[in-house]
Amino acid sequence: MGAVPPLPDPTPVVVLVSGSGTNLQALLDATADPAYGVQVVAVGADRDGTPALDRAERAGIATFVLRVGDFPTRAAWDEALTERVAAASPALVVLAGFMKLTGPAFLARFGGRTLNSHPALSPSFPGMHAPRDALAHGVKITGATLFVVDAGVDTGPIVAQVAVPVRDDDSVDSLHDRIKSSERGMLVEWVGRLARDGHSIDGRRVVTPAQPKEAR
Ligand code: GAR
Repeated sequence: MGAVPPLPDPTPVVVLVSGSGTNLQALLDATADPAYGVQVVAVGADRDGTPALDRAERAGIATFVLRVGDFPTRAAWDEALTERVAAASPALVVLAGFMKLTGPAFLARFGGRTLNSHPALSPSFPGMHAPRDALAHGVKITGATLFVVDAGVDTGPIVAQVAVPVRDDDSVDSLHDRIKSSERGMLVEWVGRLARDGHSIDGRRVVTPAQPKEAR
């Protein structure tokens, strides 16, 4: 993974989603200000009929759906996803609640410039059920992590983290809702910073300019 220099203004971004799309919505809301410097050029999903796709369509953004089950192999799905995302020519890809692991073809094309948001403080609680697992473990503080996707499960170099206290009376849903409300702010801030300022990856460290530019 190398350096990604400051990107075109606005920076074209593809967002991949699977669910309710509140993180996508936060990004879309931020892009209403041209100074944010990001344009969502397409939204892709691994399933039909999700609120996230409705949000994209309401915003007038091109959408596509590629379901794993419609392909003979997982690798064929990964290659189709790679081609479909590449067709939108993004400089960055953001996985915002995308509940599939991207594969080797995708990483070969978009490695180093694909960001994922995970509802836990990595490296704790990787996988699909992070708020449930954090609650079951009895941690007092959890949160969200924005990272650069690598071949592992929620293991990539960390861009940013935000801490969220766990309350004694939390359910999985109440905890996840509170995590998501902090996660959205982190996602918007750091997608904008990486788009405006670029980044580089030095081992496990994601490096961004010490003096970030103001929003354009
Ligand atoms: C977010 O909390 C995101 O971190 C999580 O799904 C939620 C999506 O919410 N992603 C994962 O757990 C991926 N492993 P949203 O659809 O409302 O943006």
